Amino acid sequence: MKRITVIGTGYLGAVHAASLASLGYEVLGMDVDAEKIAALAAGRPPFFEPGFDELLSEQVASGRLTFTNSYADVAAFGGDDRANTVHFVCVNTPQRKGEYAADTAYIDSVIDGLAPLLDVPTLIIGKSTVPAGTAARLTSRLRALSPAGDEMRLAWNPEFLREGYAIEDTLRPDRLVIGVQDEESEAALRDVYKPLTDTGIPLLVTDLATSELVKAAANAFLSTKISFINAMAEVCEAAGADVMLLSKALSFDPRIGGRFLVPGLGFGGGCLPKDIRAFMARAGELGADQALAFLKEVDAINMRRRARTVDLAREQCDGSFLGKRIAVWGAAFKPDTDDVRDSPALNVAASILLQGAQVTVYDPKANDTAAKNFPTLNYADSALEAARGANLILHLTEWREFRELDPNAVGEVVAERRVLDGRNALDSDLWRAAGFTYRALGRPSAV
Ligand code: UDX
Repeated sequence: MKRITVIGTGYLGAVHAASLASLGYEVLGMDVDAEKIAALAAGRPPFFEPGFDELLSEQVASGRLTFTNSYADVAAFGGDDRANTVHFVCVNTPQRKGEYAADTAYIDSVIDGLAPLLDVPTLIIGKSTVPAGTAARLTSRLRALSPAGDEMRLAWNPEFLREGYAIEDTLRPDRLVIGVQDEESEAALRDVYKPLTDTGIPLLVTDLATSELVKAAANAFLSTKISFINAMAEVCEAAGADVMLLSKALSFDPRIGGRFLVPGLGFGGGCLPKDIRAFMARAGELGADQALAFLKEVDAINMRRRARTVDLAREQCDGSFLGKRIAVWGAAFKPDTDDVRDSPALNVAASILLQGAQVTVYDPKANDTAAKNFPTLNYADSALEAARGANLILHLTEWREFRELDPNAVGEVVAERRVLDGRNALDSDLWRAAGFTYRALGRPSAV
């Protein structure tokens, strides 16, 4: 029976720990946040993720998944067999304050806290998204601080999970990537992931730097794809064309494909925006800044979508937000999560509030997290409540619930029948049939 510890039980770590326990491993989750650990140990998820509630409580009840906030417990996990325990590090690497570069302080502190306690040769595996070169730097630090010295091993195993699909992406990923420095680490990781590779999931073995870069490159590509179609939306608006039809027509070409080609308010969240910025910063340090200069444009196109949404909303409010009531549907950065980090929806809501509107937000899951970050906005308990008396509805996060609303029922409660679809996700015909003025980014007003 393999024993595994997972250090850092935020979004990534908690899902990773519970998923590995579900494969039959004995897993110890560790975090310095005592409140988070207490909640997880009681089977209560500290965040919303579809299916995680059930997975966590099942695995805690099985006894395979336990939690601690002590590095000593992590180092001792496995007792006499502790040399065979593998330690995954899943702490976050946020954007540094006032800079583009990633802050690796948390990951450094894990090595500093754990390494001195590891008295037998052990494998540590980083999963966090880090600047290229971090794993090599951490290997030296680990070996210098651990009593096992140069026998300590470090590998990298980037994570590609999407919020809202975290469990599926962990247990049925498109691919596994492991960056290793020795055969023993490769064998240990192949062993951990055997239940997945046995089902046909490909596992790629690389050096450390390549594994770090795969993650950065994947997020850079995805961001570029979204900004590409949003740039086309800008051109479509200028040319009087319809970006939704354009996107559909492009998607039939298998070389392009339709996924991540949905135009709208653009990308947000805790990963894509910070990761492309950290990638640019690291490339600059490596002397390769020209290679990633285009990502600055990708970022700029993305931020322009937010400004354009505010402008279009103002236009729909006859040129001024003063005295207007605006309903904002959606606060999370995307549906099926309560995560509001760098949420385009809240960014737009806050900007409209500052321009004199009364703004009422409703999100099916993220009202609480939004209220903590943006206490000056009003929050309603339902989409209809938010829409009551509104001069304009802004649809900014495409939850299924909003698509399933009856526009006629919404029409009964609003002051003026106007909707701006920031995600190109509502059925424009239905809304128009209910007497709404429907506008969307990148589409002519008559469509
Ligand atoms: C992303 C990556 O997909 C994942 O592989 C990585 O591990 C972490 O970052 P996530 O942040 O959960 O995952 O969200 P994702 O589903 O990728 O969406 C990112 C943003 O792009 C959202 O704000 C979404 O609304 C937006 N988006 C996505 C679009 O605007 N258009 C699209 O066509 C697709």
